[in-house]
Amino acid sequence: MNPIPKILVFDSGLGGLTVFAEIAKLRPHADYLYVADDAAFPYGAMSETALVARVLDVIRQLVASYGPDAVVIACNTASTLVLPHLRAAFPNLPFIGTVPAIKPAGEMSRSRLISVLATPGTVARDYTHDLVRSFASHCAVTLVGSQRLAALAEAAMRGESIDDSAIAQEIAPCFIESEGRRTDCVVLACTHFPLLLDRFRTLAPWPVGWIDPAPAIARRVDHIVSEERGFGADRERAGGSRRALFTKGMIPNPVLEQVLRARGLTPVTEAGFSRDLYQGDSAESRHSAVAGGKFQ
Ligand code: DGL
Repeated sequence: MNPIPKILVFDSGLGGLTVFAEIAKLRPHADYLYVADDAAFPYGAMSETALVARVLDVIRQLVASYGPDAVVIACNTASTLVLPHLRAAFPNLPFIGTVPAIKPAGEMSRSRLISVLATPGTVARDYTHDLVRSFASHCAVTLVGSQRLAALAEAAMRGESIDDSAIAQEIAPCFIESEGRRTDCVVLACTHFPLLLDRFRTLAPWPVGWIDPAPAIARRVDHIVSEERGFGADRERAGGSRRALFTKGMIPNPVLEQVLRARGLTPVTEAGFSRDLYQGDSAESRHSAVAGGKFQ
């Protein structure tokens, strides 16, 4: 058994940092590997078949090279599709997913007008539609699949300036007025979106509750690491390392590097870590499985 828990936090890009931040508050001394599958970003535009193949392939390699005690799929687009496949492939490893927080929205909403802001992939999923049926059948639920917001959040993190109008246009379909009622809850069903929350608040046509499940996910991770994996509460004195790996194999630009370091994460490249993520027999199949992306 590892002396301190090793936690793999995985997303297509930088969105999972919003989940990582909450987990790190509860388990400051764990060892973290944050992986952004930027070679395949955005997941929201990928076919379901390609996405399942891609995530299984990358996670298989990360499990082999890092040996995590728990894996957090900090991505709604992947979690709403791939979790059963991952659990079947790794029956002894806990996977904690991130799925749209429709249940709390259904409980909180007074106007009974809820919107779910997500990627096109997440709004298309059967899983999401089942959540709506199970937990919000008393509400009118508007599913908004934004094509651009995740990429805008990535650009903002790289230090690019993003026009208010571009963001306002993407969130506008969330705001519904009907028979004297207005949307009062918007579910942030993509982990990238909390990165832009201050902008959303400023640009919203009226105030709403923005629901981010990251703190609840962090509590779940902490519970699983403590209880199921037997590490107990986080009382270590020394902390594990906190590394960030990008599947394109490059250290991100200087602004982003600062963002990562400010969160305590050290960018690493394949030279120091997980060489087979970029190499190996199945490179060809990885290339063909990924829409618009490839390992380098
Ligand atoms: N962060 C991902 C999510 O939570 C989506 C971004 C993407 O399209 O890759 O859904």
